Amino acid sequence: MKVFDSISGLQQYLAEAKKKNRTIGLVPTMGALHKGHESLVKRCAAENDECVVSVFVNPTQFNDKNDLVTYPRTVESDCALLEAAGCTAAFVPSETEMYPEPDTRVFDLGPVAAVMEGPRRPGHFNGVAQVVSKLFDIVKPDKAYFGEKDFQQIAVIRRLVQLLAFPIEIVSCPIIREADGLALSSRNTRLTAEQRKIAPVIARTLNESLALAPKKSVNEVIAFVTDTINRVPGMEVEYYEIVDGYSMQPVTDWSETAYPVGCITVYCGEVRLIDNITYAN
Ligand code: PAF
Repeated sequence: MKVFDSISGLQQYLAEAKKKNRTIGLVPTMGALHKGHESLVKRCAAENDECVVSVFVNPTQFNDKNDLVTYPRTVESDCALLEAAGCTAAFVPSETEMYPEPDTRVFDLGPVAAVMEGPRRPGHFNGVAQVVSKLFDIVKPDKAYFGEKDFQQIAVIRRLVQLLAFPIEIVSCPIIREADGLALSSRNTRLTAEQRKIAPVIARTLNESLALAPKKSVNEVIAFVTDTINRVPGMEVEYYEIVDGYSMQPVTDWSETAYPVGCITVYCGEVRLIDNITYAN
């Protein structure tokens, strides 16, 4: 595996690969890699000749500066995981390499970015669009891989691809979970031992709610999930919405969508955890 910290170094390497008609896959990450990322990298490596993984904690997508400061940074162990998972080129740029001057671009991300995480994390999706579009321009991959834990983010990336006409296939990959159901996240490392014990209630409750739909109304299912989790001391649901899995718009009746997805954000102490589940319809 080659490791690049400069855009020009990576591009020289990729130019050689492209001359040989090698296909290129990209997995954008912010590091602190875990088995969820590993599954993306393995899939990317299996489906492409070159598997490029970027490791960059993107400052422009953090609406909470404390979150940026405390975001885990583990570059050495990240590189070991990447090499073992089949990454051929790791791209680990500095902030000035990615943003030699402030990125002032504002993207029209449309309705998919206007709900759930959008209004609650102002500027977040625009920051994601800034860094992902930059990575797409640098790498020019054939395919790019994203995890479904950040379900709304995938819809935003698809919108970005459409907006800027990137000739890139977006591959969405299933959530990887701990044995007790907790969705893998770099933020899980911030949970105390006590919080780690209670955090699986999120996935457990979402799973239990599958049995309620569609016998119960959308609102009843939302109330079940929210109340069950809020009853656990130390947990507070920020929102639970059932949306159409393509448009991200909330539904009030199961008949409004063929693809109902429940998206949740929960504060476990200070740690903001997200998860989602697809209901059969
Ligand atoms: O999902 C993430 O880790 C980030 O939002 C991404 C896509 C790597 C952009 O910084």
